Amino acid sequence: MNSCLVVGANSDIAKALVRELAKEGYERFYLASRNEEALDLFAKDLKVRFPSVEVKTYPFDLCRLEEHESFLESLPELPYLVVVSAGYLSRNYALSSLRKEFLKNAQVNYLCPGAFLSSVAEKMAKRGEGFIVGFSSVAGDRARPSTFLYASAKAGFSELLNGLRMFLKPYGVKVLTVKPGFVRTKMTEGIKVPSFLGAEPEEVARDVAKAIKKGKGGVLYTPFYWRFIMAFIRLLPESLLSRSSL
Ligand SMILES: NC(=O)c1ccc[n+]([C@@H]2O[C@H](COP(=O)([O-])OP(=O)(O)OC[C@H]3O[C@@H](n4cnc5c(N)ncnc54)[C@H](OP(=O)(O)O)[C@@H]3O)[C@@H](O)[C@H]2O)c1
Repeated sequence: MNSCLVVGANSDIAKALVRELAKEGYERFYLASRNEEALDLFAKDLKVRFPSVEVKTYPFDLCRLEEHESFLESLPELPYLVVVSAGYLSRNYALSSLRKEFLKNAQVNYLCPGAFLSSVAEKMAKRGEGFIVGFSSVAGDRARPSTFLYASAKAGFSELLNGLRMFLKPYGVKVLTVKPGFVRTKMTEGIKVPSFLGAEPEEVARDVAKAIKKGKGGVLYTPFYWRFIMAFIRLLPESLLSRSSL
């Protein structure tokens, strides 16, 4: 039960989560990302902080769909916990790049993680246990003019995770849909929000690690107050949202 695969492991939130899981007693980490150099630096740092953990790193592009199966087969084991934290955010789209941005958002935020987790789900279900964590976003709860391509892909990913949770329940596999609010990471660099709305990756990581420890799956808004903010935003009329710069 103490092994974990993270895809998109160079994400700032994922790194904080890995440190949190190492504190919780996870012993074996398989970290995958396109940037092997950055990942190796992180792995070295992790070994210094937690000398007893085993860490292996893998160059892996989630959007090379044809490599999913061979990548999973190449791991020394099918880990108990699989986390997908890869994501792509673009904002304020130009008409001329709408199609290109649609495809990129749909691929990185929905199609590729969805395909990967479908393979993971099959393997975990056959084994009869496992825990899947997918990083979606509160953005997927309501489309806004500045981020609707990201939002629509994350909406699909949230529902995929929610569906997988119900589908996999009889097989003993748990699924956690994580919906972070605004988190200060390289993804959100340069975006201005009121300081009380911005969380640090460590705060989100603690919430996710706590939910994993509970062992139940479900939908996690993190920090928790985003559940209420989004409940309010969902009620706003489209006329108001389309006039805003949100
Ligand atoms: N930050 C926020 O406010 C926020 C809010 C809501 C939801 N989220 C979601 O939470 C997750 C983590 O976000 P973050 O802020 O920690 O992001 P981040 O630091 O920008 O990291 C995103 C990671 O996605 C990886 N990635 C992108 N395309 C990939 C691909 N094709 N294959 C493999 N990896 C790929 C990148 O890894 P490499 O370039 O190293 O391969 C990058 O390290 C994302 O899914 C994001 O959408 C974030």
